[in-house]
Amino acid sequence: MTAISEATASAARQGKLRPFDFRRDQGAVADLVELCFAETLDPDGREYLTRMRSTARSTSLAGLAKGWANAPLNGFVWQENGRIIGNVSLIPYLVQGQRCYLIANVAVHPDYRLRGIGQTLTERAIEFGRSRRAPAVWLHVRLENQIARGIYLAFGFQERAVRTTWVANPDNTLPGEASQIQIAPLKNRDWQAVRGWLQRSYPAELAWHSWFRLSNLRPGVLGVISRFLHNAYVYQWAARQHGRLAACGAWQATYAYANAIWLAAPDKGADEAVLKLLQHIRRRSPTRRALALEYPAGDYAGAIQEAGFREQQTLVWMELKL
Ligand SMILES: CC(C)(COP(=O)(O)OP(=O)(O)OC[C@H]1O[C@@H](n2cnc3c(N)ncnc32)[C@H](O)[C@@H]1OP(=O)(O)O)[C@@H](O)C(=O)NCCC(=O)NCCS
Repeated sequence: MTAISEATASAARQGKLRPFDFRRDQGAVADLVELCFAETLDPDGREYLTRMRSTARSTSLAGLAKGWANAPLNGFVWQENGRIIGNVSLIPYLVQGQRCYLIANVAVHPDYRLRGIGQTLTERAIEFGRSRRAPAVWLHVRLENQIARGIYLAFGFQERAVRTTWVANPDNTLPGEASQIQIAPLKNRDWQAVRGWLQRSYPAELAWHSWFRLSNLRPGVLGVISRFLHNAYVYQWAARQHGRLAACGAWQATYAYANAIWLAAPDKGADEAVLKLLQHIRRRSPTRRALALEYPAGDYAGAIQEAGFREQQTLVWMELKL
């Protein structure tokens, strides 16, 4: 670690490592991120890069202000011979009133790899979090990205969760087969169980990055008020077996490329209910846009696939306490 600190200081002295400059660097960073993540960019990632490029070209105050709201403002770039060949972004967020940072877009141009640049950028991002007195820095990395995971583990990051994003298209022609599971509206008395399941599946330290908000899924008048205040458009169903609540699923409109599904179910034993709920949501989706379900990896994977979803990505969430 000491050796890397010296490398960081020396890189900064030589002018290679410098803070990301919102006005100057957006276009070059978008190009680098696109090159380094070409195989894994999803439609939201592509949209993010398009917005960065459009801000980079913008000369109007309105355009810059829009970019300001969308683009990373904190981060570091590695520059050699006037060219940006490395990047790390820092995205601030609040969890339970505490400001943490997500380290993102760690990228080194293929021609410059294996020279310690990725490690130095990561270390600089950690130092930044520490200097801002954040209790922790987080990041997420694809399960199959052994190289990046190795770098983060070496810095002491710990793996906190593994989550899969599943995607499917709505299909209002799906047949509804006879089943012991009944799909019905969620009732007030279901909330205690549903809340517990949702808190397990969408814990606050991970859910901040998504459209998830617990209060929006509450049945009754409190849920109506929350959805009104947060401008959330939600449909929700319960799956019951012999009259007992087995699982719950919600559909929510988003501005992302896919609308969101939130699934609430016990740790195990509700496969049939999950299958029927997800098929029901595909059938009853109010729009034709794709559906995305983020859920702890491995949980109900068979039922989710049987309902017509395919795995889009599995991310490992890692935390380094500072
Ligand atoms: C991951 C990435 C940023 C690493 O950048 P880099 O500058 O090549 O990494 P470094 O030179 O600092 O290497 C750091 C460690 O990873 C190891 N490593 C890096 N690339 C490796 C490879 N292709 N095979 C095996 N080990 C590798 C290095 O050996 C080093 O380990 P060591 O300290 O034990 O020797 C770069 O490969 C990249 O941009 N990948 C594509 C984007 C990406 O996956 N980003 C991470 C997303 S979370």
